[in-house]
Amino acid sequence: MIISVLNASITDIECDAIVVNLFQGVAAPGGATGAVDRALDGLLSRLIREEGFEGKPGQTLMVHTQGRLLAARVVLTGLGEPEKLDLDTVRRASAAALRRARDARARRVATIVHGAGAGGMAPARAAQATVEGAVLGTYEFLKYKSEPQLRQIEELLVAEMDASRLPSVEAGVSRGDVVSRAVNLARDLVNSPANEITPSALALLATRMASETGLEALVLERPEAERLGMGCYLAVARGSQETPKFITLRYRPEGKPSGRVGIIGKGVTFDSGGLSLKTAESMVTMKDDMSGAAAVLAAMQAVAELRPDREVLAIVPAVENMPSGSAMRPGDVVRAMNGKTIEIENTDAEGRLTLADALCYAAREGCEELIDLATLTGACVWALGRVYSGVMSNNQELVERLTECSRLSGDRIWQLPLSEDYRYLIESQVADMKNTGGREGGAITAALLLSEFTEGRPWAHIDIAGPAFLSQDNGVIEKGASGAGVRLLIEYLCGEPAA
Ligand code: BES
Ligand code: MN
Ligand code: ZN
Repeated sequence: MIISVLNASITDIECDAIVVNLFQGVAAPGGATGAVDRALDGLLSRLIREEGFEGKPGQTLMVHTQGRLLAARVVLTGLGEPEKLDLDTVRRASAAALRRARDARARRVATIVHGAGAGGMAPARAAQATVEGAVLGTYEFLKYKSEPQLRQIEELLVAEMDASRLPSVEAGVSRGDVVSRAVNLARDLVNSPANEITPSALALLATRMASETGLEALVLERPEAERLGMGCYLAVARGSQETPKFITLRYRPEGKPSGRVGIIGKGVTFDSGGLSLKTAESMVTMKDDMSGAAAVLAAMQAVAELRPDREVLAIVPAVENMPSGSAMRPGDVVRAMNGKTIEIENTDAEGRLTLADALCYAAREGCEELIDLATLTGACVWALGRVYSGVMSNNQELVERLTECSRLSGDRIWQLPLSEDYRYLIESQVADMKNTGGREGGAITAALLLSEFTEGRPWAHIDIAGPAFLSQDNGVIEKGASGAGVRLLIEYLCGEPAA
């Protein structure tokens, strides 16, 4: 989708459809919607009255202009109650409108910025959310469909009448474009099957991204990982025919960096469970077990474009978890880079093994702050469902900052306690700890294991197992891979869109 900003009234744009909005409980449309209504001789207000259009979020109404405007159609989209307006509603309204226009075969669509009217939100944020809703809402994964898809919006024009607002709207639109392309990259990677997205494929993608963007890629092969003592990560790789790839991507700002953050993504390209084999049913979506990796790599694409002033080191310990004659066994004891030992009780608790070494590596590389994203536990899905990711951390201030970024970005996170009171559950008879703590509090015991490898750094673990892969459309993101965590990471690393 090609996106641009136009200093014009929405009524003066020639295109297949224009998008305007309506708050719930408003009978007479004002602003841009009022202008469109007048151009159509009151048709919109008449339809609002007579067709029961209430302006609820997600609700849309489409009319043909019959030549009374340069645009062929008008899509009216609901903004909900004015007091409840937030960035998520804007994304939802924009997504619903663009889907409606697309389904009517529109190719060139113009929209106003939703939610930035009098007393509304900051124009840059509202513009960003409008674009995110449009691009994320019309995403379709068609790579493996042999019939070409005809319906696709090619061009989005964001109309802003007020010239004084143009710089902010342009900044927001441009940020929305960068962010939603990154989110959709992550979705493509996760939706793609595990026979295509192998550890080697992820390594190739990272290397390619580096050469295209100026990031630095470094992929550690098995012998190098052995030399570094990454016994936990390598144990997971043992059962698979796929070669493990310990992938790193580094962004260096110009001048002296104002800090160094490590972002680590779980990259299990397929999780069969290993010898502790999953059931057929629970294995079906396990191509999504590299969602953390996809989020981290996609965020790096955006970081390369937005150029924040902190150094960012992205780490993806990519492996496939398979059963075979060479696979790790329950009862095996493995040793991580920092010398700590883990008894493997269940080979299906593999993510924490790969992350243990990745966290050690990040700390050794001088990262002052660590954030990991992982589809780590079914327990987190049971606790929070598919809406919120769980966040567990050794640093409350980091959680507060991430929570604020969560609110702005729409990637929801909810804190669970990282309490030592659960530590007894991962005590091992033979090693420093064991890799499972039973069903109860499973998200927390997994995080407690990870905390043993953070080397005293401020660290936050985000368990995205629920939101990473949706079983139902949520009004912006269709069923399937969601790109969970990408928006949060970009917001955290790059901050406000600057005009
Ligand atoms: N990848 C899974 C977690 C998962 C479950 C992600 C459902 C997405 C949806 C992880 O590797 C796993 O298998 N965890 C086990 C741990 C258990 C054996 C302690 C789990 O949660 O069942
Ligand atoms: Mn597993
Ligand atoms: Zn897994």
